[in-house]
Amino acid sequence: MSTLRHFLTLADLSANELRGLLDRAIELKDLHRRGRHYEPLRGRVLAMIFEKSSTRTRVSFEAAMAHFGGHAIFLSHRDTQLGRGEPVEDSARVLSGMADLVTIRTYGHDTVERFAEYSRVPVINALTDLHHPCQLLADLQTFRELRGPLQDRTVTWVGDGNNMCHSYLEASRMLDFDLRIACPEGYEPDAEILASAPRAAIVRDPREAAAGADLVVTDVWASMGQESEQGDRVGAFTDYQVDSTVMEAAGSEALFMHCLPAHRGEEVSAEVIDGPRSAVWEEAENRLHAQKALLERLLVSDHEG
Ligand code: CP
Ligand code: NVA
Repeated sequence: MSTLRHFLTLADLSANELRGLLDRAIELKDLHRRGRHYEPLRGRVLAMIFEKSSTRTRVSFEAAMAHFGGHAIFLSHRDTQLGRGEPVEDSARVLSGMADLVTIRTYGHDTVERFAEYSRVPVINALTDLHHPCQLLADLQTFRELRGPLQDRTVTWVGDGNNMCHSYLEASRMLDFDLRIACPEGYEPDAEILASAPRAAIVRDPREAAAGADLVVTDVWASMGQESEQGDRVGAFTDYQVDSTVMEAAGSEALFMHCLPAHRGEEVSAEVIDGPRSAVWEEAENRLHAQKALLERLLVSDHEG
């Protein structure tokens, strides 16, 4: 009998499972590019709850379910009873009686944890204020395809110690790479998550943090839910733009990634994001392939365990 698996943070996989999933994502991408039909989720239903906006996450999950022969239902908080205050626990019991899997994008991480506690089917975190593990699958796949394993390499995070930074911290611990974080004072990652990543360190200066790095990553200065802080954050993050001087400090083979959406002229210069070392479009496409590997692992018995 299979046990119920959720994917609320990257650490819900073992390091070996994570490596296997990245390899599988690359295989599934190849199958897709060759136009091969593979429908392991025929008749299966994915319910997708979104309490925040999304382009990539929504479309990649919907497309993945369509390719896999299943069906996805988009549930906006504007139209569901959850959005009108129906308890998370009740919504979990009801939805998991009808769907085979649920994705949730919400604010507090405790919401996905509570949902998972009451769900009879796997739950995937499609972004919370604390973690964005699905994005990490795509980022890690992209690096693996373009440069090989991340083990013993150096990743530089420039900007806010936010949900993406937290998921990079988990990845650093699981895949054994150095993570240097350049963030302004007051915008550090969660202390507990930082402490759990032995190869991570705060290096304030972006150029110092990027010296010799294999990958430079950034994200928006104000995440969803922080719109009212935008003005203060623009002031605090002025010196934290990934521009050509930051990329020059990194190795000549260094890649640039950003989960998107991006703000040219704020966290990244147009020259970098639209330049030759930017892998952002491959990274965005890989959301599809990496999440297919995740859906397969959570729902197809050959890939359990
Ligand atoms: N990177 C990402 O999660 O994009 P969306 O907000 O468009 O889903
Ligand atoms: N840190 C960003 C990521 C968006 C995909 C946010 O939470 O808004």
